[in-house]
Amino acid sequence: MSNPSLLILPGDGIGQEVMAEVRRVIEWFGAKRDMQFDVSEDLVGGAAYDKHGVPLHDDTMAKAQEVDAVLLGAVGGPAYDDLDFSVKPERGLLRLRKEMDLFANLRPAQCFDALADFSSLKKELVAGLDIMIVRELTSGVYFGEPRGIHMEDNMRVGVNTQRYTEVEIERGARAAFELAMKRDKKLCSMEKANVMESGILWRDVVTEVHADYPEVELSHMYADNGAMQLVRAPKQFDVIYTDNLFGDILSDCAAMLTGSLGMLPSASLGSPMENGRPKAMYEPVHGSAPDITGQGKANPIACILSFAMALRYSFDEGAEATRLEAAIEKVLADGVRTGDLLSDENSTGVSTSGMTDAILAA
Ligand code: NAI
Ligand code: MG
Repeated sequence: MSNPSLLILPGDGIGQEVMAEVRRVIEWFGAKRDMQFDVSEDLVGGAAYDKHGVPLHDDTMAKAQEVDAVLLGAVGGPAYDDLDFSVKPERGLLRLRKEMDLFANLRPAQCFDALADFSSLKKELVAGLDIMIVRELTSGVYFGEPRGIHMEDNMRVGVNTQRYTEVEIERGARAAFELAMKRDKKLCSMEKANVMESGILWRDVVTEVHADYPEVELSHMYADNGAMQLVRAPKQFDVIYTDNLFGDILSDCAAMLTGSLGMLPSASLGSPMENGRPKAMYEPVHGSAPDITGQGKANPIACILSFAMALRYSFDEGAEATRLEAAIEKVLADGVRTGDLLSDENSTGVSTSGMTDAILAA
């Protein structure tokens, strides 16, 4: 059998810096754990625009469709802020998600004990927190038609449309139930069925899918209440399933329960390919961080944890993923910190590569 294949797209800014560290981690697994990957690398975002005039070249798109997993750093930066909407770096990312049909966005919010003090919530509310938000990623109000800005009665009117088919709701729900089965068998679905018809359909379809997963305890919650509950008592949740817009907001909210952006991985999964693996892209939640680019300050953990998710969800290497996460846990417990994990602005931490050194040593 051939080696699993990985396409690395570092992108812009610190995306390139943190991805260089992930390559060291991949090499470590090759040397120490005899895990070989066919790794290729290409451009996305501003880096692709600079070379090709588009944020994602067709050849790169084709390659992304073929590999077992895509690892993406971050895109964007001030140099590209004035570009036309159609070639903005983000369009490269959106194209990958759309054409790979990555409909389930997995955003874990996990609190490493050593960082519990870092949360904006009380330590006891977040210590040991481990929840997973599954956000529907390919439909909803970000894509629905009609959309646009037009004139009406001499006024400008902005229009976006929340639209969901039952098929779209169902496939994401299955992904969420499957995850729940591997975790604490608890799923909370969030919508606004009280004021939105798409929310009524959402609730109905999730309830129908539940029939196939009777072991999972299913609850429904209005998304605004969900936001309150996430900051009141986040540990009541295990897996949360919600739509594209609510998921965007709720996952950012949940993420901050655990401290720094530099710690947060994500996965976006699609339908199974011929080899049984889901189409998949893994990326840190953070952006290209122009304010710290080129200074060796970026925390590589979000990107390294994204690779751990790839090990678990694309390569069936859950034990190796746990090994990597345990190394990160140990390093944090030992007090190793990049600047973003230091509350005192005057104290100095380790560099981007220094953090990786510590993780590999652990
Ligand atoms: P950002 O996530 O790049 O940075 C926000 C703040 O967090 C900055 O102060 C940054 O220094 C810090 N930070 C982020 N990641 C860090 C890390 N790994 N280690 C240490 N500190 C870290 O978001 P911002 O500033 O809103 O956007 C900057 C650029 O990134 C923009 O062009 C934006 O469009 C793009 N962006 C791209 C994303 C992606 O590629 N998925 C996501 C979010 C923003
Ligand atoms: Mg967001």
